Amino acid sequence: MTSLVLTITETLRYRGKLGQWAWALHRVSGFGTVVFLIMHVIDTSWATFYPELYVKAVDAYKTPLFTVGEFALVACVVYHALNGFRIALFDYRPQWWRRQEDAAKLVLLGTLVLLVPAFFIMTGHVVNYYNERVSAFDLGLEKVVEATAPFAVGTVVVIGLALIVSAGASLIPALNAPKKRLKGSKMETFMWSFMRISGILIIPLVFGHLAMMHLIQGVFDITRVGHVPVFTNLGPNMNETLTAVNFVRLRWDTMLAGVYIWRVYDILLLFLVTLHGFNGLRYIINDYIHNRLVNRALRIASFGTMIGVILVGALAILQSVPATTAEMLSEASRAIEMSINSGILVR
Ligand code: HEM
Ligand code: HEM
Repeated sequence: MTSLVLTITETLRYRGKLGQWAWALHRVSGFGTVVFLIMHVIDTSWATFYPELYVKAVDAYKTPLFTVGEFALVACVVYHALNGFRIALFDYRPQWWRRQEDAAKLVLLGTLVLLVPAFFIMTGHVVNYYNERVSAFDLGLEKVVEATAPFAVGTVVVIGLALIVSAGASLIPALNAPKKRLKGSKMETFMWSFMRISGILIIPLVFGHLAMMHLIQGVFDITRVGHVPVFTNLGPNMNETLTAVNFVRLRWDTMLAGVYIWRVYDILLLFLVTLHGFNGLRYIINDYIHNRLVNRALRIASFGTMIGVILVGALAILQSVPATTAEMLSEASRAIEMSINSGILVR
Protein backbone atom coordinates (compact mmCIF):
# COMPACT_ATOMS: atom_id res chain seq x y z
CA MET A 1 0.00 0.00 0.00
CA THR A 2 2.83 2.40 0.90
CA SER A 3 4.40 1.66 -2.48
CA LEU A 4 1.10 2.52 -4.19
CA VAL A 5 0.97 5.91 -2.40
CA LEU A 6 4.66 6.42 -3.21
CA THR A 7 4.09 5.60 -6.89
CA ILE A 8 1.22 8.11 -7.13
CA THR A 9 3.09 10.93 -5.36
CA GLU A 10 6.36 10.26 -7.20
CA THR A 11 4.59 10.02 -10.59
CA LEU A 12 3.12 13.48 -9.94
CA ARG A 13 6.36 14.93 -8.52
CA TYR A 14 8.92 13.41 -10.89
CA ARG A 15 9.47 15.50 -14.00
CA GLY A 16 10.13 12.48 -16.19
CA LYS A 17 9.62 12.26 -19.92
CA LEU A 18 6.59 11.08 -21.85
CA GLY A 19 7.58 7.42 -21.24
CA GLN A 20 6.78 7.78 -17.53
CA TRP A 21 3.28 9.10 -18.26
CA ALA A 22 2.75 6.44 -20.94
CA TRP A 23 3.57 3.76 -18.35
CA ALA A 24 1.17 5.29 -15.78
CA LEU A 25 -1.65 5.73 -18.34
CA HIS A 26 -1.18 2.16 -19.59
CA ARG A 27 -1.51 0.84 -16.04
CA VAL A 28 -4.53 2.98 -15.10
CA SER A 29 -6.37 2.22 -18.37
CA GLY A 30 -5.68 -1.55 -18.07
CA PHE A 31 -6.83 -1.58 -14.43
CA GLY A 32 -10.00 0.40 -15.19
CA THR A 33 -10.89 -1.95 -18.04
CA VAL A 34 -10.45 -5.06 -15.84
CA VAL A 35 -12.78 -3.60 -13.19
CA PHE A 36 -15.37 -2.88 -15.89
CA LEU A 37 -14.88 -6.36 -17.40
CA ILE A 38 -15.71 -8.14 -14.11
CA MET A 39 -19.00 -6.24 -13.80
CA HIS A 40 -19.75 -6.53 -17.51
CA VAL A 41 -19.34 -10.32 -17.83
CA ILE A 42 -21.36 -10.97 -14.66
CA ASP A 43 -24.09 -8.53 -15.81
CA THR A 44 -24.21 -10.09 -19.28
CA SER A 45 -24.50 -13.60 -17.84
CA TRP A 46 -27.74 -12.46 -16.17
CA ALA A 47 -29.32 -12.31 -19.65
CA THR A 48 -29.21 -16.12 -19.44
CA PHE A 49 -29.49 -16.78 -15.71
CA TYR A 50 -31.54 -13.86 -14.22
CA PRO A 51 -33.28 -11.99 -17.08
CA GLU A 52 -35.01 -9.50 -14.73
CA LEU A 53 -31.65 -8.50 -13.23
CA TYR A 54 -30.19 -7.98 -16.70
CA VAL A 55 -33.02 -5.61 -17.56
CA LYS A 56 -32.20 -3.60 -14.40
CA ALA A 57 -28.46 -3.59 -15.16
CA VAL A 58 -29.01 -2.27 -18.71
CA ASP A 59 -31.38 0.32 -17.28
CA ALA A 60 -28.50 1.57 -15.12
CA TYR A 61 -26.19 1.57 -18.19
CA LYS A 62 -28.50 4.20 -19.69
CA THR A 63 -28.06 6.71 -16.83
CA PRO A 64 -25.90 9.82 -17.47
CA LEU A 65 -23.20 8.64 -15.03
CA PHE A 66 -22.74 5.38 -16.91
CA THR A 67 -22.74 7.30 -20.20
CA VAL A 68 -19.76 9.32 -18.92
CA GLY A 69 -18.18 6.01 -17.87
CA GLU A 70 -18.84 4.61 -21.36
CA PHE A 71 -16.82 7.43 -22.96
CA ALA A 72 -14.02 6.95 -20.41
CA LEU A 73 -14.01 3.19 -21.08
CA VAL A 74 -13.69 3.66 -24.84
CA ALA A 75 -10.81 6.12 -24.25
CA CYS A 76 -9.09 3.62 -21.91
CA VAL A 77 -9.42 0.71 -24.35
CA VAL A 78 -8.21 2.73 -27.36
CA TYR A 79 -5.18 4.20 -25.54
CA HIS A 80 -4.26 0.87 -23.87
CA ALA A 81 -4.55 -1.03 -27.16
CA LEU A 82 -2.36 1.39 -29.15
CA ASN A 83 0.20 1.73 -26.36
CA GLY A 84 0.18 -2.05 -25.79
CA PHE A 85 0.85 -2.52 -29.50
CA ARG A 86 3.80 -0.09 -29.22
CA ILE A 87 5.20 -2.01 -26.21
CA ALA A 88 4.87 -5.37 -27.98
CA LEU A 89 6.40 -4.06 -31.21
CA PHE A 90 9.38 -2.37 -29.54
CA ASP A 91 10.07 -5.36 -27.28
CA TYR A 92 10.69 -7.45 -30.39
CA ARG A 93 12.61 -4.68 -32.19
CA PRO A 94 15.39 -3.45 -29.84
CA GLN A 95 17.02 -1.57 -32.72
CA TRP A 96 14.10 0.90 -32.58
CA TRP A 97 14.48 1.71 -28.89
CA ARG A 98 15.99 5.18 -29.50
CA ARG A 99 12.66 6.14 -31.08
CA GLN A 100 10.58 5.30 -27.96
CA GLU A 101 9.69 8.95 -27.31
CA ASP A 102 8.48 9.47 -30.91
CA ALA A 103 6.46 6.25 -30.73
CA ALA A 104 4.82 7.35 -27.44
CA LYS A 105 3.83 10.63 -29.15
CA LEU A 106 2.45 8.68 -32.12
CA VAL A 107 0.33 6.60 -29.73
CA LEU A 108 -1.16 9.79 -28.24
CA LEU A 109 -1.84 11.14 -31.71
CA GLY A 110 -3.39 7.83 -32.84
CA THR A 111 -5.61 7.80 -29.75
CA LEU A 112 -6.80 11.31 -30.54
CA VAL A 113 -7.40 10.49 -34.22
CA LEU A 114 -9.55 7.47 -33.29
CA LEU A 115 -11.35 9.08 -30.36
CA VAL A 116 -12.49 12.30 -32.04
CA PRO A 117 -14.75 10.61 -34.67
CA ALA A 118 -15.74 7.85 -32.22
CA PHE A 119 -16.88 10.39 -29.58
CA PHE A 120 -18.64 12.38 -32.28
CA ILE A 121 -20.70 9.33 -33.36
CA MET A 122 -21.32 8.25 -29.74
CA THR A 123 -22.53 11.76 -28.84
CA GLY A 124 -24.95 11.52 -31.80
CA HIS A 125 -26.45 8.33 -30.29
CA VAL A 126 -26.75 9.97 -26.87
CA VAL A 127 -28.43 13.10 -28.31
CA ASN A 128 -30.87 10.96 -30.34
CA TYR A 129 -31.78 8.96 -27.27
CA TYR A 130 -32.48 12.05 -25.14
CA ASN A 131 -34.43 13.75 -27.95
CA GLU A 132 -36.53 10.74 -28.95
CA ARG A 133 -37.04 8.63 -25.87
CA VAL A 134 -36.51 10.61 -22.66
CA SER A 135 -39.21 12.90 -21.34
CA ALA A 136 -37.42 14.17 -18.20
CA PHE A 137 -33.69 14.24 -17.41
CA ASP A 138 -32.83 11.98 -14.46
CA LEU A 139 -29.31 11.50 -13.08
CA GLY A 140 -30.37 8.00 -11.99
CA LEU A 141 -28.09 7.87 -8.92
CA GLU A 142 -30.33 5.28 -7.25
CA LYS A 143 -30.05 2.94 -10.25
CA VAL A 144 -26.27 3.35 -10.32
CA VAL A 145 -25.96 2.54 -6.61
CA GLU A 146 -28.31 -0.43 -7.01
CA ALA A 147 -26.27 -1.75 -9.95
CA THR A 148 -22.84 -1.31 -8.38
CA ALA A 149 -23.52 -2.09 -4.69
CA PRO A 150 -23.60 -5.91 -5.14
CA PHE A 151 -20.16 -5.72 -6.80
CA ALA A 152 -18.74 -3.57 -3.97
CA VAL A 153 -20.12 -6.02 -1.37
CA GLY A 154 -18.87 -8.97 -3.46
CA THR A 155 -15.36 -7.45 -3.60
CA VAL A 156 -15.24 -7.03 0.20
CA VAL A 157 -16.51 -10.61 0.75
CA VAL A 158 -14.07 -12.15 -1.77
CA ILE A 159 -11.08 -10.25 -0.32
CA GLY A 160 -12.19 -11.14 3.24
CA LEU A 161 -12.41 -14.85 2.39
CA ALA A 162 -9.07 -14.71 0.57
CA LEU A 163 -7.44 -13.12 3.64
CA ILE A 164 -8.70 -16.03 5.77
CA VAL A 165 -7.37 -18.59 3.23
CA SER A 166 -4.06 -16.72 3.03
CA ALA A 167 -3.74 -16.67 6.85
CA GLY A 168 -4.48 -20.43 6.87
CA ALA A 169 -1.87 -21.01 4.15
CA SER A 170 0.78 -19.18 6.17
CA LEU A 171 0.42 -21.93 8.83
CA ILE A 172 1.42 -24.65 6.31
CA PRO A 173 5.26 -24.72 6.15
CA ALA A 174 5.38 -26.39 2.69
CA LEU A 175 3.52 -23.44 1.15
CA ASN A 176 5.97 -20.95 2.65
CA ALA A 177 9.20 -22.61 1.53
CA PRO A 178 11.31 -20.52 -0.89
CA LYS A 179 10.23 -21.08 -4.52
CA LYS A 180 12.37 -22.94 -7.06
CA ARG A 181 13.52 -19.98 -9.17
CA LEU A 182 13.87 -21.79 -12.48
CA LYS A 183 10.26 -23.01 -12.58
CA GLY A 184 8.97 -19.57 -11.57
CA SER A 185 10.97 -17.70 -14.16
CA LYS A 186 9.94 -20.05 -17.00
CA MET A 187 6.33 -19.34 -16.13
CA GLU A 188 7.01 -15.58 -16.06
CA THR A 189 8.72 -15.70 -19.47
CA PHE A 190 5.70 -17.50 -20.86
CA MET A 191 3.33 -14.90 -19.33
CA TRP A 192 5.49 -12.07 -20.71
CA SER A 193 5.03 -13.44 -24.25
CA PHE A 194 1.38 -14.26 -23.58
CA MET A 195 0.65 -10.61 -22.62
CA ARG A 196 2.08 -9.42 -25.95
CA ILE A 197 0.52 -12.09 -28.17
CA SER A 198 -2.89 -12.00 -26.45
CA GLY A 199 -2.84 -8.18 -26.52
CA ILE A 200 -2.35 -8.15 -30.29
CA LEU A 201 -5.06 -10.80 -30.81
CA ILE A 202 -7.45 -8.80 -28.62
CA ILE A 203 -7.13 -5.63 -30.74
CA PRO A 204 -9.50 -6.70 -33.60
CA LEU A 205 -11.86 -8.49 -31.19
CA VAL A 206 -12.28 -5.67 -28.70
CA PHE A 207 -12.29 -2.91 -31.35
CA GLY A 208 -14.94 -4.89 -33.29
CA HIS A 209 -17.02 -5.32 -30.12
CA LEU A 210 -16.81 -1.62 -29.28
CA ALA A 211 -17.57 -0.61 -32.88
CA MET A 212 -20.73 -2.77 -32.82
CA MET A 213 -21.88 -1.57 -29.38
CA HIS A 214 -20.98 2.14 -29.63
CA LEU A 215 -20.63 3.22 -33.25
CA ILE A 216 -22.67 1.07 -35.68
CA GLN A 217 -25.48 1.08 -33.12
CA GLY A 218 -25.60 2.88 -29.79
CA VAL A 219 -25.65 1.31 -26.32
CA PHE A 220 -29.23 2.63 -26.01
CA ASP A 221 -30.35 0.45 -28.96
CA ILE A 222 -30.03 -2.59 -26.69
CA THR A 223 -33.42 -1.59 -25.25
CA ARG A 224 -35.07 -0.30 -28.43
CA VAL A 225 -38.22 -2.22 -29.41
CA GLY A 226 -38.34 -2.85 -33.17
CA HIS A 227 -34.55 -2.52 -33.55
CA VAL A 228 -32.60 -5.20 -35.44
CA PRO A 229 -29.55 -5.91 -33.23
CA VAL A 230 -26.26 -5.22 -34.94
CA PHE A 231 -25.14 -7.96 -37.39
CA THR A 232 -28.03 -10.35 -36.70
CA ASN A 233 -30.42 -12.03 -39.15
CA LEU A 234 -33.36 -13.06 -36.96
CA GLY A 235 -35.50 -9.97 -37.44
CA PRO A 236 -36.29 -7.03 -35.17
CA ASN A 237 -36.41 -7.20 -31.38
CA MET A 238 -40.14 -7.16 -30.62
CA ASN A 239 -40.04 -8.19 -26.95
CA GLU A 240 -41.63 -5.31 -25.00
CA THR A 241 -40.71 -6.37 -21.47
CA LEU A 242 -37.38 -8.17 -21.87
CA THR A 243 -35.95 -6.13 -24.77
CA ALA A 244 -32.39 -6.15 -23.41
CA VAL A 245 -32.46 -9.91 -22.78
CA ASN A 246 -33.89 -10.54 -26.23
CA PHE A 247 -31.16 -8.38 -27.76
CA VAL A 248 -28.52 -10.76 -26.37
CA ARG A 249 -30.60 -13.80 -27.46
CA LEU A 250 -30.92 -12.50 -31.02
CA ARG A 251 -27.16 -11.90 -31.13
CA TRP A 252 -26.20 -15.26 -29.66
CA ASP A 253 -28.77 -17.16 -31.79
CA THR A 254 -27.63 -15.62 -35.08
CA MET A 255 -25.96 -18.19 -37.32
CA LEU A 256 -23.55 -17.56 -40.16
CA ALA A 257 -22.54 -20.53 -42.35
CA GLY A 258 -23.93 -22.90 -39.71
CA VAL A 259 -21.94 -21.30 -36.87
CA TYR A 260 -23.27 -19.32 -33.89
CA ILE A 261 -20.98 -16.51 -34.93
CA TRP A 262 -21.41 -14.14 -31.93
CA ARG A 263 -21.14 -16.95 -29.41
CA VAL A 264 -17.78 -17.98 -30.89
CA TYR A 265 -16.68 -14.33 -31.03
CA ASP A 266 -17.71 -13.65 -27.42
CA ILE A 267 -16.07 -16.85 -26.10
CA LEU A 268 -12.76 -15.87 -27.74
CA LEU A 269 -13.07 -12.33 -26.41
CA LEU A 270 -13.95 -13.64 -22.95
CA PHE A 271 -10.97 -15.99 -22.64
CA LEU A 272 -8.33 -13.70 -24.12
CA VAL A 273 -9.41 -10.50 -22.38
CA THR A 274 -9.93 -12.17 -18.99
CA LEU A 275 -6.60 -14.06 -18.96
CA HIS A 276 -4.72 -10.96 -20.20
CA GLY A 277 -6.48 -8.54 -17.84
CA PHE A 278 -6.12 -10.68 -14.71
CA ASN A 279 -2.45 -11.41 -15.37
CA GLY A 280 -1.99 -7.64 -15.68
CA LEU A 281 -3.80 -7.26 -12.35
CA ARG A 282 -1.32 -9.76 -10.82
CA TYR A 283 1.58 -7.56 -11.98
CA ILE A 284 -0.06 -4.55 -10.34
CA ILE A 285 -0.68 -6.44 -7.06
CA ASN A 286 2.93 -7.68 -6.97
CA ASP A 287 4.28 -4.18 -7.63
CA TYR A 288 2.38 -2.47 -4.82
CA ILE A 289 1.48 -5.01 -2.12
CA HIS A 290 4.58 -6.36 -0.41
CA ASN A 291 3.07 -7.69 2.81
CA ARG A 292 3.20 -11.47 2.28
CA LEU A 293 -0.20 -12.30 3.77
CA VAL A 294 -2.07 -9.51 1.97
CA ASN A 295 -0.22 -10.09 -1.32
CA ARG A 296 -1.16 -13.78 -1.29
CA ALA A 297 -4.75 -12.92 -0.32
CA LEU A 298 -5.14 -10.49 -3.22
CA ARG A 299 -3.61 -12.96 -5.66
CA ILE A 300 -6.01 -15.68 -4.42
CA ALA A 301 -8.96 -13.26 -4.69
CA SER A 302 -7.89 -12.22 -8.19
CA PHE A 303 -7.31 -15.81 -9.36
CA GLY A 304 -10.68 -16.95 -7.93
CA THR A 305 -12.46 -14.02 -9.57
CA MET A 306 -10.78 -14.80 -12.90
CA ILE A 307 -11.96 -18.44 -12.78
CA GLY A 308 -15.44 -17.25 -11.73
CA VAL A 309 -15.64 -14.69 -14.57
CA ILE A 310 -14.57 -17.26 -17.19
CA LEU A 311 -16.97 -19.93 -15.87
CA VAL A 312 -19.96 -17.63 -15.52
CA GLY A 313 -19.31 -15.93 -18.88
CA ALA A 314 -18.77 -19.18 -20.79
CA LEU A 315 -21.74 -20.95 -19.17
CA ALA A 316 -24.01 -18.01 -20.02
CA ILE A 317 -22.98 -18.21 -23.67
CA LEU A 318 -23.24 -22.01 -23.87
CA GLN A 319 -26.27 -22.58 -21.66
CA SER A 320 -28.62 -20.41 -23.67
CA VAL A 321 -28.21 -22.86 -26.61
CA PRO A 322 -30.52 -25.64 -25.41
CA ALA A 323 -33.16 -23.18 -24.14
CA THR A 324 -33.35 -21.24 -27.38
CA THR A 325 -33.00 -24.32 -29.57
CA ALA A 326 -35.93 -25.83 -27.67
CA GLU A 327 -37.89 -22.61 -28.22
CA MET A 328 -37.09 -22.68 -31.95
CA LEU A 329 -38.07 -26.35 -32.19
CA SER A 330 -41.38 -25.81 -30.43
CA GLU A 331 -42.06 -22.73 -32.59
CA ALA A 332 -41.30 -24.78 -35.72
CA SER A 333 -43.60 -27.61 -34.61
CA ARG A 334 -46.34 -25.05 -33.77
CA ALA A 335 -45.95 -23.59 -37.30
CA ILE A 336 -46.21 -27.08 -38.86
CA GLU A 337 -49.29 -27.81 -36.70
CA MET A 338 -50.92 -24.52 -37.85
CA SER A 339 -50.11 -25.29 -41.50
CA ILE A 340 -51.71 -28.70 -41.15
CA ASN A 341 -54.80 -27.22 -39.46
CA SER A 342 -55.20 -24.60 -42.18
CA GLY A 343 -54.82 -27.24 -44.90
CA ILE A 344 -51.49 -25.93 -46.31
CA LEU A 345 -49.76 -29.17 -45.32
CA VAL A 346 -51.14 -32.70 -45.35
CA ARG A 347 -50.22 -35.02 -42.45
C1 HEM B 1 -6.79 -4.16 -26.92
C2 HEM B 1 -5.59 -4.72 -27.03
C3 HEM B 1 -4.58 -4.81 -25.90
C4 HEM B 1 -3.23 -4.77 -26.07
C5 HEM B 1 -2.48 -4.63 -27.40
C6 HEM B 1 -2.64 -4.90 -24.76
C7 HEM B 1 -1.27 -4.96 -24.50
C8 HEM B 1 -0.69 -4.99 -23.27
C9 HEM B 1 0.72 -5.06 -23.02
C10 HEM B 1 1.81 -5.18 -24.09
C11 HEM B 1 0.90 -5.04 -21.68
C12 HEM B 1 2.22 -5.03 -20.95
C13 HEM B 1 2.51 -6.37 -20.39
C14 HEM B 1 3.79 -6.40 -19.58
O1 HEM B 1 4.15 -5.42 -18.94
O2 HEM B 1 4.41 -7.48 -19.59
C15 HEM B 1 -0.41 -4.95 -21.05
C16 HEM B 1 -0.63 -4.87 -19.71
C17 HEM B 1 -1.88 -4.88 -19.15
N1 HEM B 1 -3.09 -5.01 -19.80
FE1 HEM B 1 -3.36 -5.00 -21.79
N2 HEM B 1 -3.63 -4.99 -23.81
C18 HEM B 1 -4.85 -4.95 -24.48
C19 HEM B 1 -6.08 -5.05 -23.90
C20 HEM B 1 -6.33 -5.12 -22.54
C21 HEM B 1 -7.63 -5.24 -21.95
C22 HEM B 1 -8.97 -5.33 -22.73
C23 HEM B 1 -7.44 -5.25 -20.60
C24 HEM B 1 -8.48 -5.38 -19.52
C25 HEM B 1 -9.35 -6.34 -19.49
C26 HEM B 1 -6.03 -5.12 -20.34
C27 HEM B 1 -5.43 -5.07 -19.10
C28 HEM B 1 -4.09 -4.97 -18.85
C29 HEM B 1 -3.49 -4.79 -17.54
C30 HEM B 1 -4.24 -4.67 -16.22
C31 HEM B 1 -2.09 -4.73 -17.74
C32 HEM B 1 -1.02 -4.56 -16.68
C33 HEM B 1 -0.58 -3.13 -16.67
C34 HEM B 1 0.73 -2.91 -15.95
O3 HEM B 1 1.43 -3.84 -15.55
O4 HEM B 1 1.06 -1.72 -15.78
N3 HEM B 1 -5.38 -5.06 -21.55
N4 HEM B 1 -1.36 -4.92 -22.06
C1 HEM C 1 -20.11 -0.07 -22.43
C2 HEM C 1 -19.49 -0.80 -23.36
C3 HEM C 1 -19.96 -2.16 -23.78
C4 HEM C 1 -21.22 -2.58 -24.10
C5 HEM C 1 -22.50 -1.78 -24.17
C6 HEM C 1 -21.14 -3.99 -24.35
C7 HEM C 1 -22.22 -4.79 -24.68
C8 HEM C 1 -22.21 -6.16 -24.70
C9 HEM C 1 -23.35 -7.00 -25.00
C10 HEM C 1 -24.74 -6.51 -25.34
C11 HEM C 1 -22.96 -8.28 -24.89
C12 HEM C 1 -23.86 -9.50 -25.11
C13 HEM C 1 -23.41 -10.36 -26.23
C14 HEM C 1 -23.33 -9.69 -27.56
O1 HEM C 1 -24.26 -8.94 -27.92
O2 HEM C 1 -22.31 -9.94 -28.24
C15 HEM C 1 -21.55 -8.26 -24.50
C16 HEM C 1 -20.79 -9.36 -24.24
C17 HEM C 1 -19.45 -9.34 -23.89
N1 HEM C 1 -18.63 -8.22 -23.86
FE1 HEM C 1 -19.22 -6.32 -24.07
N2 HEM C 1 -19.83 -4.38 -24.22
C18 HEM C 1 -19.07 -3.29 -23.88
C19 HEM C 1 -17.71 -3.25 -23.67
C20 HEM C 1 -16.91 -4.35 -23.58
C21 HEM C 1 -15.48 -4.33 -23.37
C22 HEM C 1 -14.62 -3.06 -23.25
C23 HEM C 1 -15.07 -5.62 -23.29
C24 HEM C 1 -13.68 -6.15 -23.08
C25 HEM C 1 -12.84 -5.61 -22.23
C26 HEM C 1 -16.24 -6.45 -23.45
C27 HEM C 1 -16.24 -7.83 -23.40
C28 HEM C 1 -17.36 -8.64 -23.52
C29 HEM C 1 -17.36 -10.07 -23.29
C30 HEM C 1 -16.15 -10.91 -22.87
C31 HEM C 1 -18.68 -10.51 -23.52
C32 HEM C 1 -19.22 -11.94 -23.33
C33 HEM C 1 -19.86 -11.93 -21.94
C34 HEM C 1 -20.31 -13.25 -21.36
O3 HEM C 1 -19.85 -14.30 -21.77
O4 HEM C 1 -21.12 -13.20 -20.35
N3 HEM C 1 -17.35 -5.67 -23.64
N4 HEM C 1 -21.11 -6.96 -24.43
